[in-house]
Amino acid sequence: MTGEPDLKSAYALNTPEDAKRLYATWAETYDSDFGDAQGYLMPREVVRMFVAAGGQGPVLDVGAGTGLVGEGLAAAGVGPIDALDLSNEMLSVAKSKGVYRKTIAADVTQPLSAGPYSGIISAGTFTMGHVGPEGIPPLLEIAKSGCLFVISVNAKHFESAGFEAFFAKLDTEIDAFSFEDVRIYSDKADLSHRYDIGRIVRFRKA
Ligand SMILES: C[S@@+](CC[C@H](N)C(=O)[O-])C[C@H]1O[C@@H](n2cnc3c(N)ncnc32)[C@H](O)[C@@H]1O
Repeated sequence: MTGEPDLKSAYALNTPEDAKRLYATWAETYDSDFGDAQGYLMPREVVRMFVAAGGQGPVLDVGAGTGLVGEGLAAAGVGPIDALDLSNEMLSVAKSKGVYRKTIAADVTQPLSAGPYSGIISAGTFTMGHVGPEGIPPLLEIAKSGCLFVISVNAKHFESAGFEAFFAKLDTEIDAFSFEDVRIYSDKADLSHRYDIGRIVRFRKA
């Protein structure tokens, strides 16, 4: 990892401590240097799917970062929304947006004490160098029965981290599993990531 706050260094992260270090330096510029400059589409895509599926609060935004998903949910009239993230610096920017009921500094792969939630949403967090299928069981524990999950998983990561086999094994714990593949970035993005695909999975806790 180079320590430079960009996609290359984000995908090369190995540990939660690496992630905390990288995002501490990225928080203030993330929305402009990454979100706007790369035409980052995923936050609005997960919000679109969540709203279309009738998602309701209370909602947990997992890996909320600077709050791009929370802003979209709030604009769609969904709430209350809580933000969970490893990075205090990212959460501090998210808090300043004024759309979250509370912010929770925590690692999603560890047991969580928040909730229970009617909706769980996430963009850009289940990706290379970040969170694998091990982030799902702690979330099922804090979800109400029938809770709507809408989670984007980088398509390459979906394959390499074993998400397909993982979801197949959850057979009795989840209902109505479906997915949609969408572009993560617009044509504004650097060529190296311009056509990257995210798989947005949607299911309900049984
Ligand atoms: C690419 S950012 C996405 C932020 C926001 N959801 C968005 O779409 O703009 C990934 C976020 O995941 C957080 N993250 C990485 N690993 C995590 C973990 N194990 N638990 C909670 N958050 C984590 C990072 O701190 C970072 O804020």
